[in-house]
Amino acid sequence: MTAGTLPPVIAIDGPSASGKGTVAQRVATALGYHYLDSGALYRVVAVAAKQSGIAWNDGAALAPLAAALDVRFNSDEIYLNQSVVTNSVRSEDGGIGASQVAVWPAVRAALLDRQRAFRQAPGLVADGRDMGSAVFPDARLKIYLTADAETRAERRYKQLIGKGMDANMAALLQELRARDERDSQRAAAPLKKTDDARLLDTTHLSIDAAVEAVLARYKAVTQL
Ligand code: DC
Repeated sequence: MTAGTLPPVIAIDGPSASGKGTVAQRVATALGYHYLDSGALYRVVAVAAKQSGIAWNDGAALAPLAAALDVRFNSDEIYLNQSVVTNSVRSEDGGIGASQVAVWPAVRAALLDRQRAFRQAPGLVADGRDMGSAVFPDARLKIYLTADAETRAERRYKQLIGKGMDANMAALLQELRARDERDSQRAAAPLKKTDDARLLDTTHLSIDAAVEAVLARYKAVTQL
């Protein structure tokens, strides 16, 4: 397939707990597009490393692990080596580990083709940190979705409590700030708004309004 005939991509990047996962999924459903949760791949690498006794700062051992990852996404469940790992992957520990394994360029490179394979007709909505900058630089629409740290910590708190998990607001805020710092300061594909991405601040915006804003923007660019 030539570049011109590749299915269109909507890239939604932004910091942790900004709501980009929910918004991206809803946009994908509305358009009948596929959905890529790229953060889940980094989280699975962190969980797989823990299971194999590999430290999250051992880049040399993490890269082959990421390349050989036996992972499957099936509706709401995530399977690693045929076993369900959804809760570990979605836990705070999974997110902290993901942010640490993600600093390694070789880990990022090992996950590149796996992410690009999600680009299937009729289109893809992909969320993460570098969807618009590194993985799908030719995305039709790039959104940088964010919200202030307090709002994001509160959303994460409600999400975890809703799932019956333990959560502490002060600890969550501190961890979120540490994660923002690590994700935006790393050398490889750091989290940052690219010039061609449209800023969507959801601090005072409902999920519905954010979804509408992305869909309206997409409609505008596809009619150009
Ligand atoms: O979106 P998330 O919270 O599930 O992502 C978990 C971590 O994975 C995030 O802190 C940084 C890393 N990540 C990344 O480096 N690049 C991506 N495209 C997605 C996630």
